[in-house]
Parts: sequence; C-alpha cells; structure tokens
Amino acid sequence: MAQLSLLNTGKDDVRQRLQSLRQELNLHAHRYYVLDDPILADAEYDRLFQELLALEQQHPELITADSPSQRVGGAPLAQFRTVPHTIPMLSLENAFDGDALVEFEERLFRFLQSREPITYVTEPKLDGLAVELVYEDGLFTIGSTRGDGVAGEDITNNLKTIPAIPLRLLTPEGIAPPPRLEVRGEVFIGLADFKKLNAERATAGEPLFANPRNAAAGSLRQLDPRITATRPLDFFVYGVSDTTALPCTTQHELLQYLGRLGFKVNPLVRLCPSIAEVITQFTVLQAQRTSLTYDIDGMVVKVNDFALQERLGAKARSPRWAIAAKFPASQATTRLLAVEFGVGRTGAITPVAVLEPVQIGGVTVRRATLHNEDELRRKGLMLGDTVLVQRAGDVIPEVVKPVLENRTGQEQPVLMPSRCPECGFPLVRIGQEAITRCPNPNCPAQRVRGLIHFTGKGGMDIEGLGKKAVEQLVSQGLIQDIPDIYRLEVAQLAGLDGWGDKSAENAVRAIQGSRTPTLAKFLAALGIRHVGEVTAQVLARHFASLPRLLLADEADFLHIEGIGEQMAASLVDYFQDPTVREMLSRLESLGVRVQEEKPGAETRGGLSGCVFLFTGGLARLSRHEAKARIKELGGQVASGISRKVTHVVLGESPGSKLTQARELGLTVITEDEFLRLIGR
Ligand code: IVH
Repeated sequence: MAQLSLLNTGKDDVRQRLQSLRQELNLHAHRYYVLDDPILADAEYDRLFQELLALEQQHPELITADSPSQRVGGAPLAQFRTVPHTIPMLSLENAFDGDALVEFEERLFRFLQSREPITYVTEPKLDGLAVELVYEDGLFTIGSTRGDGVAGEDITNNLKTIPAIPLRLLTPEGIAPPPRLEVRGEVFIGLADFKKLNAERATAGEPLFANPRNAAAGSLRQLDPRITATRPLDFFVYGVSDTTALPCTTQHELLQYLGRLGFKVNPLVRLCPSIAEVITQFTVLQAQRTSLTYDIDGMVVKVNDFALQERLGAKARSPRWAIAAKFPASQATTRLLAVEFGVGRTGAITPVAVLEPVQIGGVTVRRATLHNEDELRRKGLMLGDTVLVQRAGDVIPEVVKPVLENRTGQEQPVLMPSRCPECGFPLVRIGQEAITRCPNPNCPAQRVRGLIHFTGKGGMDIEGLGKKAVEQLVSQGLIQDIPDIYRLEVAQLAGLDGWGDKSAENAVRAIQGSRTPTLAKFLAALGIRHVGEVTAQVLARHFASLPRLLLADEADFLHIEGIGEQMAASLVDYFQDPTVREMLSRLESLGVRVQEEKPGAETRGGLSGCVFLFTGGLARLSRHEAKARIKELGGQVASGISRKVTHVVLGESPGSKLTQARELGLTVITEDEFLRLIGR
C-alpha cells in the first residue's frame, strides 16, 4: 500500500491542487459576478486561473465539468435538442394598476374562503428570457429555455458561459444541496452592456440589436457557445420548479436559500405584509425604474407562504398565487410623417422615422430608429401611417408596427433611395448583409462620422472633441480629415461659437496628448469596417508595429487566428487605398507616432494571435515548459513551418527550419527575447 500511495503522490497532489484552485476560483467568481463584492485583485485571480489552465493542460484527464475553465466548451451545434420540463414553466396574469392588485387579493380571499391577512413577496420583473437550470448533486447539468412551457431547447453550453450562473452550487455550512434542483430565473443584458455591445457592432458594421431583450435572446440562441461567451449575459434567480423537499417554507426564505447556494438574487425583492404595501412598493419600484442598470417591465407579486401557494394551485397557464403588475407601457401611437435616410461611418444607410411629436414616459419623441432596410420592409410601414412607438429603458425609441386599422387609403409607400442622400453616389447592397451602403470613400457624411469615431471613446478618446465639436469644426472648414485634427491651434478654436480660451487650450492639449497612441488604439480609431477593438488588439499583437502591418497582404491577414475573410478583405481594401497611405504619412509628418507594441504583457491572453515555432534546443527551460507557458498566455505552438508562424524561436544548433524561416521572411527571435516575451 505504502508503495502504491508513493507512486500516486504526484497525481494526488495535482488533483488536490486542482480541486482547491477550482474552489477558490469559483468562490471569487461568486463574489465578483454574483455579490458584486470582489475581495481578490484581478491580477491574482488571473494568476490562479493560469495555474489551473496549465495544470489541466498537463493532466487533461483531471478536468471536471465544474472547472471554471469549462465555461466555454463544447463544439458548435447543428441544432438545439428539445428537453421537457419535469414541471411546466407557467406564465403570469397581468395587472396594470393598484385596483387590479386589490382585485387579485379579493380573488385569493374568495378562493381560500378566508380574509386572513396574506403576506406577499414583490420582485422586479426583468425583461429578459426565462430559463431553467438543472443541478444534479450540486453540479449544473442541463439548462433550457422556457419554450412552450412544457418543453424547451437545451442551451446548456450557452448558459455555462454566463459567469453569474454557478457551475457547481456552493455548500456553505449546514447546507447540502438536494440531489436534484431545478432552478428558474431570467437571463438578461444590462443597459450599459447593451449599449457597448451595439457600439461594437456598429464599429464592426454589423446590424444592431433593437433592445436588450432581443440581444439576450439572440445571444442565447447561438449554436456556437464561443459567440455566446462574448455577449455580456447576466442572470437573476426567481424560483424553483418544485418547493417540496427544500428547507424553506416561504418564497422569501427560498430566495435567501438560493442566494446561499451561489445564485444572484435581485436586491430589490421585498416582503410586504399587506396588499396596500404591495401597491406602495409598485409605485416605489416604478420611480426606481429609470435609475436601474437593467430594464424591468413591472413587478411580480407572489404569495409568500408555500402552504398557501399549494392550496391556491394553478390555472391552465398561470398560478393563482402570483401576478405580474405591469408598468404603464412606454408606448404611444403617433403619425409617421416621413422616413429619412442617414449615412453611418461605414456608409451604412439607416432609415429614421420622422414622427408627429408624442409624449412617451415623460419624454417628447420626434424621431425613432427603423434599424435597417430589412426591418423597415418587414414592418410594412407607409407614410402617413398611425404607428406604435416605444421606448424601453433609456434605449432609443423605435417604431414597433403600423396600426393597420387606422389606414385610410391615403398612405404612401416609403421609397428606398438608390443614391446616397449625402453625396449622391449609387448605393450598393453586398451579399447577404442586411445593410445598404454608400460605397463612396469620400462621402462627406461618412467622413464626419469617421472623425467623430476617431476622436471618440472607441477611438483616441480626445477630450473636448466630442460629436458636437467635430461637427462644428467640419462645418467651419477647420477639419476635413484625421490629420487636420493635429493642425488645430488654440487661436482657431477659441474664436468659435461656444468655445473660450480655456476650452480651446484644453482641447489642443488633449490632441497633443493623443500623438503617441498604442497600435491597438490607433487601429481601432481608424474605424476600418469589420475591425472593432478586439480585432485591433489581435492585429497589434500580431504585427507589433504599423510599418509591419502595412507590408501585409490578404494571405498574411488570413493566417491570423481570429481574422476571417471579410475582415481580411476589408483590411486590404483599407490599407491599399492610396488616400489612406497618404493620410498615414501626413499623420507621421505632423508628429503622430504610433507606438510599437511591447510584447511580454503578463496578462491572460497576452500572446493571443502569436504562433511560435522552435528550432534547436533551449538552454533555460524545456520545450514542454515553453509550450505550456505560451498556451497559458493564449498563444499557439506550431509543429512545422508555415506562414502562420509569427515567431521562430532560435535555440542551440538550429535545424533546417531556420533556413526555411528566413526564406519565408518570418521573425526569428533568440531564446532571451522569447523569455522576455513570456515574462520570465
Ligand atoms: S415567476 C409561475 N418571477 O415573467 C411563476 N417571473 O409571465 C412564473 N419574470 O416568463 C414566473 N421576472 O420570464 C417570475 N421575478 C420574477 C420574474 C419573472 C421576470 C418573467 C418570466 C416569466 C414571465 C411571466
């Protein structure tokens, strides 16, 4: 026995270390994503995570389903499997005001044949997607959509990517999770994340999501979990399928219990000892609505006591013991006066509805987005139509649909422009894109949008040169293109409407301060179609300097992990354009110096986009160690020479690979340089 355990010590140690790493990482993820109260620095979390990845790479047989490394796993699916819910997922009846809530209580009294006071729990009603999560012996095993209530779609791999969903239930002292637990709650996207997601999509020239709910739905419906993983999905728990056999007798206790198991419970849940308090809470929540970081469309009212819930039971589609108190819809009807067509930075033509001004939720709405041409056609709008318009949270107003009953026959069709409304260039629609574009690179509208992007938050972030200022400078003829920004002087600005000496000085100082951007920031600021911030970072890491990037052809771009055909073509189009080349050299002569990327960043994924090839022996670490470190940092190791290789590491007595590498013009680095790259 002694012999055996000695032999196993190594593996057991690893197993133990892995288990404690997972436990620690899961606990910290819980503090960060669920409690919003981190107690560990990001860098320290990253270090633990890297250690986990490295150990799991060496011992793949020890990887477990609840490892934080397994959040993004599983191959893309051809379609989702259907899973039945063991207990149907019901929906709720609606109440629209206090009176309806009083009536709700009256119905309860009648049904119970008693007027004993009833205690309620009120919960914000999130506007997202209902899902069910099954935990077996504490492990998350199956997650599904609501579907028709009886069966939903198996979206387990997508749900695993959501950091607020525990892969394994916590087991705080005194709590052993039941053998099977079916948890229900709402998946959603917060308002700030939604804005950021849409801004990134705009940068990449992709169609925008109409609202956070659609964005969440679209993200959950991805067949490839890697795409879902890039979406900022979040989750609040609100119940379980079956309350029997749980150590709780009320909804309020249940939510606390679920919180202790590691779920995120909405902090605005309230216990109300009477329907009058429920009605007060309804008013309070409505007032809080606009300051919340996510969209809610009402408040769910539930009878607190499970024994009472049990007696009340359910009707065909909804339980008798709960009701959704809906906020007055932020919708109104008005007339569609005209449709204007705007031109975006990438030339995308966006239809905008011009409306007879109407009050929605305390704001006068005059214009609303129609998203894109396909949406416009799908809605079948006509000029002069009565239309339903809505505002959700602080999202831009949108036209929902025409009110067909109000048609008089006088309505006129909306005519799609065939030429750019700003420059008159014939418009094009490429392939299956939902977007019609103006292909004129000199289109003045695109130029202004491009300048706004360059100086804006997703670009160089030059303070004082926001949208209004840029529009003003263009209309005053002070700037036409990017280099002009770097020629602006205090005296020119100080004389303009709304500017003073101080603001002019500040703006010029901010411009000066932006003369040495990182390559990633500069590339993102250029606003190349399909190239958002992430791609800009990949490019910067790969090429490390602007001159190197300028030498690349389409094949070079295509060889980079994460760059597809559309991006490669767009990059070539952009950088081969003589006006772009001329603009870049003007920037250089105006003193703009794009910094070289310094390799060796000690961050997770610091080497992503890099592919290493070794030739000859390494003196200070084994190939095995070197490879593990590269993978930890998000890089790849090639086995043979190819154009995909970004760094050939030169060891002692290199082989024929070196000659081949030189022939292909690949970057060759010494062992010392390699060690610096990997942060040793
Ligand atoms: S309870 C039987 N609680 O509203 C109980 N639902 O029509 C049914 N929802 O599909 C659900 N927040 O997606 C409940 N705190 C909450 C909720 C909530 C949002 C959604 C849920 C459901 C719909 C009810």
